[in-house]
Amino acid sequence: MFSSLSNTVQKALSAECGVEDIVVTWERPHDASHGDLATPIALQISKKVGKTPREIAEMILPALEGEETIEKVEIAGPGYVNIWLTPTALVGALGSVRQACTAKVKRENEAPVIVEYSQPNIAKPLGIHHILSTVIGQSVANLHTHLGFNTISINHLGDWGTQFGKLAVALDKWGDKPVTECSLDDLLALYVQFHEQAESDDTLEDAAREAFRKLEQGDEELRAFWQSVVDITMAEMETIYSRLHVSFDHTHGESFYEDKMQPIIDEGKEKDVFVEGENGALIVEFSEESNMPPAIVVKADGATIYLTRDLATTSYRITTWNPQAILYIVDVAQSLYFQQLFATVEKLGWDLPHLEHVVFGRMRFADKSMSTRKGNILKLEEVLDEAEKRAADVIASHGDRIQTQDPEGLATMMGQGALVYGVLSQNRKMDMVFDWDKALSFDGNSAPYLQYTHARARSIVSKAGDAVEPNTIDALSDKERSLLNTLLGFENSLQDAQTSLMPHILANYLFDLCQDYNSFYNDDPILKAEEPARSFRVYLTCLTADVIKTGAQLLTISVPDRM
Ligand code: ARG
Repeated sequence: MFSSLSNTVQKALSAECGVEDIVVTWERPHDASHGDLATPIALQISKKVGKTPREIAEMILPALEGEETIEKVEIAGPGYVNIWLTPTALVGALGSVRQACTAKVKRENEAPVIVEYSQPNIAKPLGIHHILSTVIGQSVANLHTHLGFNTISINHLGDWGTQFGKLAVALDKWGDKPVTECSLDDLLALYVQFHEQAESDDTLEDAAREAFRKLEQGDEELRAFWQSVVDITMAEMETIYSRLHVSFDHTHGESFYEDKMQPIIDEGKEKDVFVEGENGALIVEFSEESNMPPAIVVKADGATIYLTRDLATTSYRITTWNPQAILYIVDVAQSLYFQQLFATVEKLGWDLPHLEHVVFGRMRFADKSMSTRKGNILKLEEVLDEAEKRAADVIASHGDRIQTQDPEGLATMMGQGALVYGVLSQNRKMDMVFDWDKALSFDGNSAPYLQYTHARARSIVSKAGDAVEPNTIDALSDKERSLLNTLLGFENSLQDAQTSLMPHILANYLFDLCQDYNSFYNDDPILKAEEPARSFRVYLTCLTADVIKTGAQLLTISVPDRM
């Protein structure tokens, strides 16, 4: 429909003003009084053509009025062209919404997009802050997959570094059982103890460095110890990932790149990109304009570091998958680091894909008691448990008004949804405030609201029997028209969320859709309507439910059929 309308406008512009090859863009006005579609084309080309936007709009008008799909055209404001489509045209376009609910076929021939997220450090439980990279990354990956990208999701585990030396020393000194019998909490406690003792005992840090050096050199006992720590951590993390509907195509720890760094160090030296810095470290320096301090690639004692492993990681990904893009979903605190990493690979002269550090801000709880728990880490697992418990309380307090045969299952779904949606509905670039009451409310911008609206729509469809594809509809009520237009915006919201890597665009779209649906539900009878309105409204209801379900799943959230 867009292309045929664009054609008409282009033809008119070429005939009236002699301009060719104009790209006509269309918007869906938020306000129903501005019609179903609008184009700012007259404003955009006014300078070029040397006429006022209104004059240009007047020239386009007659051509559009002749279109079969158009009911009415108006010029608004300084020169916007607003269009009202015929009910037949609007209803006819709904097929595309149904299509947008199915994942596009993977474009196998296209270079893949790599999405790297979660990236926790081993030997510590996942903390609440890990939810950000984990669910932002998963939804960015889901959006790509849904839109047909060949997507590769990777968990880049922090499983290498001096912390293993510390842990080995701590276990040796204070451990009361073999590592294989330790839980993640035991390991964390040992790690904390190490830091407490190290404040008064200098020899501990040295011992830890020595232990890590031995590990790097392949000491068998230490390798076995390290492997156990990785296994213990992974097992616990897997449980949480599965509760969050998160999964990866590949989990490659930093250790995976141990034997892949030397060639890059050699290459950097040969190309004079890595030079000797103060006291013998190998460093990379950046141009003055970039304003970045030099970065260390290899320490004075010959030890490789985080950056060295990221260089090897980037190289490995390029040679293995030849991707079109690598997206690193990482805390904004590492901005300088990623700029240095990207500038370094640039200097090395590699043939690079698009590299992007996808940043996110901090998250804090509106409820203070959540941030000041004992110890220094608030575990993601505890918050997830808390979310489910609170969801169960909400369900219980609603009594009969919530219909479910499985209150526990519903609480799990609502709790996970509330937590994740509380994150994903906010602009990732800003600091976020998480508020339990808001996250669990039934009538705000929340997962329970989406879940409830979905269940309401499904129950209507199931009472109506099957939703049939509508035939011709002569007229639309205001609420029908507005719901229909919102449904037609689904694909666009998916595309916007994917290109800008902003899941909150999809979240906010779903919220708008639920509001439109509920407003339609309140005003227009559905099951009690006469035919053909009844079938049409059931059809709209079914499509709404499908869109909510698809969108929520892309945000890692499940929706119930009953509630
Ligand atoms: N594990 C790191 C941390 O916790 C984040 C890793 C980010 N990804 C990367 N390729 N450097 O800080």
